[in-house]
Amino acid sequence: MKKFISVHDVTDLSALVADALRYKANPHADKTLGSGKRIGLLFLNPSLRTRLSSQVAAQNLGMEAIVFNVGQEGWALEFEEEAIMSGNTVEHIKDAARVLSLYFDVLAIRTFPTLKNREDDYSELFINQVIKYAGIPVISLESATLHPLQSFADLITIQETWKHPKKPKVVLTWAPHVKPLPQCVANSFSQWMTTWGECDFTIVHPEGYELADTFTQGATILHDQKSALQEADYVYVKNWSTYNDYGKIYESDPSWMLTNKHLALTQNARVMHCLPVRRNVELSDEILDGPNSLVTQQAGNRIWGAQAVLANILKNA
Ligand code: CP
Repeated sequence: MKKFISVHDVTDLSALVADALRYKANPHADKTLGSGKRIGLLFLNPSLRTRLSSQVAAQNLGMEAIVFNVGQEGWALEFEEEAIMSGNTVEHIKDAARVLSLYFDVLAIRTFPTLKNREDDYSELFINQVIKYAGIPVISLESATLHPLQSFADLITIQETWKHPKKPKVVLTWAPHVKPLPQCVANSFSQWMTTWGECDFTIVHPEGYELADTFTQGATILHDQKSALQEADYVYVKNWSTYNDYGKIYESDPSWMLTNKHLALTQNARVMHCLPVRRNVELSDEILDGPNSLVTQQAGNRIWGAQAVLANILKNA
C-alpha cells in the first residue's frame, strides 16, 4: 500500500486481517521493521483510540511516532487552491505538507467534516491535499467521509468472533444522539462489509437518514428496526446526521436506542460501537456492560489493524 484512505487501497483484505491477527498473537513479531523511520500523527480533531492505538502500533514496529494536535497547537491551515489568505488561516497545506514530508516517512491525519457543505466535505479536499503535496504515504485517521482504521478493526473483530460456517447477518442500526455527527463511521463500515462480502449486510435507519449510495451498494436498506434485527448475529450501533439535507438531526426517537429488549429479537447478537458512546442515549448500560458487547474488543483491535496497515506501507512504499 502507498496510502490507506479507504478499503479500496487494500489489495488483499484476507491477508491484511491475517497480518493483524498475527500481530495480536505476537505484537513484536516485526519489532525492527520500522526502525529508523518516523510517523507524524496529525490531529485536527479530538481522539482517544485512534491517537493512542496508532502510537502503540508504530512503537511495536520499532517506529518513532510523533503526535501533533494541529487543531489546538498548530497554525490554522488553508486547504483551498489559490486562496487569498486574508482571513483566519495562517499556513497553506502546500507549504505545511512539503515541510512535514522532510520530517516524516509516513503521515497520518484526522480531518473531520464541517457538516456545513456536503460537496466540500465529500470531495475530501483536506486529505487529498495532504496526499498531493506531502508525496509520502498517508494514512487516514478519519477523514470527512470515511474511517478506515475503525472499519478494519471492526472487520477483524467480526472475523475473530464468528465461528460458524454460514455467513453472519450483520446489521448497522442508526441510533439517537444529542448532536449532528458525521456519516464517516457508517459509510466506512458499510463500504468494508460490502467489499468483504462474507456477510449478509443490512442497514436500518429512520426515513431521511439515507447514506450516500456510493458506500451502500450491496447492502439491504430498511426503515423498520424490529424487522431488521430479526436473526441478526452482529448489531453495529451508530448515529449519523442526514446526508441528503446535509448535517441535520431530523429526530432523535429514543426508541431507536438499543436495549436488551431489542437484543431479544436477534440471534443473541454481539453488539458493536466504535466509541466514544453516549450511554443510555445511543446504547443502554445493560448492553454495554453485558456479555454481548464487543466494544472494548473492537477498540483493542485498533492497535492490530493499525500495525498491519503500517507494516504493509513500510514494506511496499
Ligand atoms: N473510534 C475512534 O475513532 O475513537 P477516537 O475518536 O477516540 O479516536
